[in-house]
Amino acid sequence: MPYTQLIHRAIQAQSRAIVPYSDFRVGAALLTDSDQIYTGCNIESSSYGLTLCAERVALFKALSEGEQSFKAIAIATPSDLYCPPCGACRQVLWDFAGDIDVILVARTGKNTIVKLSDLFPHPFDDGFLIHD
Ligand code: THU
Repeated sequence: MPYTQLIHRAIQAQSRAIVPYSDFRVGAALLTDSDQIYTGCNIESSSYGLTLCAERVALFKALSEGEQSFKAIAIATPSDLYCPPCGACRQVLWDFAGDIDVILVARTGKNTIVKLSDLFPHPFDDGFLIHD
């Protein structure tokens, strides 16, 4: 499955990153089941822990617009290596998107596709919560 446009949108989203502290620009592009694309970039706070990752910005934008089903997310970083999403983003992507394709896009534009379940094995999720 070609993700050319999704990768392009993730790379474009890097330009909107607000990164005065890390200077590490991340762009994400999330593909819905109906082939809509929602993008996100990282947004850093002077209180560092309040920073939002690009992946969660894209996901929450999509969820807040009513999207519920997803196929893939492309994540572009300035790294020479394939930079995977942080642990918090893996958890939230698992909660809301399930076992999607994750396309890691390195600085040169080269990319690789992994399943979220390979990045996030043995997940905690709502199946463990006890409901009345
Ligand atoms: N960052 C992301 O946007 N996504 C990740 O999965 C890893 C980290 C951002 C957060 C922060 O703005 C910068 O990269 C350095 O950690």
